[in-house]
Amino acid sequence: MRMYDIIMKKRSGLALSEEEIRWMITGYTKGDIPDYQMSAFLMAVYFKGMTDEETALLTDAMAKSGEQLDLSDLPGVKVDKHSTGGVGDKTTLIVAPVVAACGCTVAKMSGRGLGHTGGTVDKLESIPGTRTSLSKEEFLDVVRRTGIAVTGQSPNLAPADKKLYALRDVTATVDSIPLIAASIMSKKLAAGSDCIVLDVKTGSGAFMKTVEDSVLLAEKMVAIGVHNGKKIAALITNMDIPLGYQIGNSLEVEEAVRTLCGQGPKDLTEVSLALASQLLYLAGDGELDHCRKLAQDALNSGAALEKLAAMIEAQGGDADCVRHPEKLGRAPVEADVTAEKSGYITKMDSAGIGIAAMLLGAGRETKESEIDPLAGIILKKKTGDSVKKGEPIATLLTSDPAKVDAAKARFLEAVSVGRTAPEKKPLIFARVTEQGVE
Ligand code: URA
Repeated sequence: MRMYDIIMKKRSGLALSEEEIRWMITGYTKGDIPDYQMSAFLMAVYFKGMTDEETALLTDAMAKSGEQLDLSDLPGVKVDKHSTGGVGDKTTLIVAPVVAACGCTVAKMSGRGLGHTGGTVDKLESIPGTRTSLSKEEFLDVVRRTGIAVTGQSPNLAPADKKLYALRDVTATVDSIPLIAASIMSKKLAAGSDCIVLDVKTGSGAFMKTVEDSVLLAEKMVAIGVHNGKKIAALITNMDIPLGYQIGNSLEVEEAVRTLCGQGPKDLTEVSLALASQLLYLAGDGELDHCRKLAQDALNSGAALEKLAAMIEAQGGDADCVRHPEKLGRAPVEADVTAEKSGYITKMDSAGIGIAAMLLGAGRETKESEIDPLAGIILKKKTGDSVKKGEPIATLLTSDPAKVDAAKARFLEAVSVGRTAPEKKPLIFARVTEQGVE
């Protein structure tokens, strides 16, 4: 077999065989196929797409390119969640302890921040002492003891995806539906859970900019999950605007804790409860309404907060910071951003706000950048709110005063103020399951 022929076949819009896909992924993972040939192949996929069968085979080959976690010895129903990436998206810190408090087993591998989007691992590391590179044995031991663990991705989990993702990132081939579906689902399949809920973000801060594309991506991922015997559902949620009011690692932990205490912002609480209810439903805990009540009870009773505290403690962190998040501290430099004119906020471009938070130190500009755990943004106003000229829209926080001006300029570029209030968009656009789109 020759990579040249595979590139030519895909360039002509033909479907690859199972043998060709497996040969290509094995060869690329081992280093036998060079990046320049794989780049040409990825670009051909970007333009010509892949059939559902090809996408399922690609996912399977990528999932089997490294270690596959066997969770069958753990008690209970094993559940997992994945977000396609957003700004202010701290839902894992809420959904995972809520479903664990309801009796599900959560053995979750999470990623670091990517570009303007945040990552759960960086957020967890803002809690002093918390370890996120647990060995497989430590990871399973924490799950056994507490019912929940969230660790960074093991380097040997879907290594084909790691190499491919890095290549896609620099060859303008990230936003291809079959490639995103295979990337996400290969990791979910290798991570071994029984039930999976996907949060497919849609809008300016997401990879998928339209609801239609987001539904297509969700349908593909759900089909791959079903084909592999998983119970799976996806929610399409709004990422035209950051989720909640706090962006940045310790700021997001603090807002997640407040939400776990029942005092979180409405949008964050709603998306988190919806995702948690879907997981409980997939796990067989009853009808959706009942699952919603179970999730809400886990918040009201404090059981979910205690689950998060138990997990942090078991992973070496200071659980006191979960019970009293003010102990996480506050960045030494604070600067308000004020409205340049009066009116209504008509747009808050999430990607721009994510970049402003990154410029303050909350994310990485390069792979080597160090995160400032206290850096970030507290929004005072969101899309639809009225503002008066000179009124604060947000507070920027950082440990480095030199970072404020560029972040402020980027933030203001992301915000539009107009004379009339914008039309309100839904928070959750659709639910995608094996049965279809609702
Ligand atoms: N997240 C992933 O894990 N993979 C993609 O391709 C896009 C988002």
